[in-house]
Amino acid sequence: MNLRDAIEALPLRSRTPVEWAPRVLADPIALLIDHAFLEKKAANNAMELMTRWPDDWTPGWVETMTGIARDEAAHLAQVTRLLIKRGGRLTRVHKNPYANALRLLVRKGGPGEIVDRLLVAALIELRSCERFALLADASPEAEMAGFYRALFSSERGHYRVFLKLAYKVGVPDAVEERWKWMLESEARILAKQAPGARIHSGAG
Ligand SMILES: [Fe+2]
Ligand SMILES: [Fe+2]
Repeated sequence: MNLRDAIEALPLRSRTPVEWAPRVLADPIALLIDHAFLEKKAANNAMELMTRWPDDWTPGWVETMTGIARDEAAHLAQVTRLLIKRGGRLTRVHKNPYANALRLLVRKGGPGEIVDRLLVAALIELRSCERFALLADASPEAEMAGFYRALFSSERGHYRVFLKLAYKVGVPDAVEERWKWMLESEARILAKQAPGARIHSGAG
């Protein structure tokens, strides 16, 4: 499957225009810094979810989360290496209004909480997938194109794992409904984001 077909197959409710990628690639240092924080957050989130198995115990849960955390830490190391090679430095703090808005979709304090947390994690992976595929296609440097392509595959794997787990721990019909609503909400939230050299920036 080529990248364009792979993007088409993602169940997103909105599509990023191809012009978004060359625009954000025009400021590669800012894009890599933003990206580094995305990977850091993904690693933290997997470590945080690691002890949130529902009920008494879910076999495979800890292994899944530590595996994802390890992947994300490896991505973070790769992004940081590419950033430093290009003369950039990591900043200490970073804002992510997109992820913060998605996190507000999580129902707090009931059995829906873990389902929602898994679905929000799946959403972020899913949109990242689309954006990495567009970046792979638009990157003039072979090193960067290969890097984004590899991330596309890895994050697509994570998206599938989180979604599968949500179905496993929740009531399938209810999870289906919730996932559809989450996909619609994500498209709405993304459309409100400001443009800029960020992985989850607005396309406008
Ligand atoms: Fe990652
Ligand atoms: Fe990921």
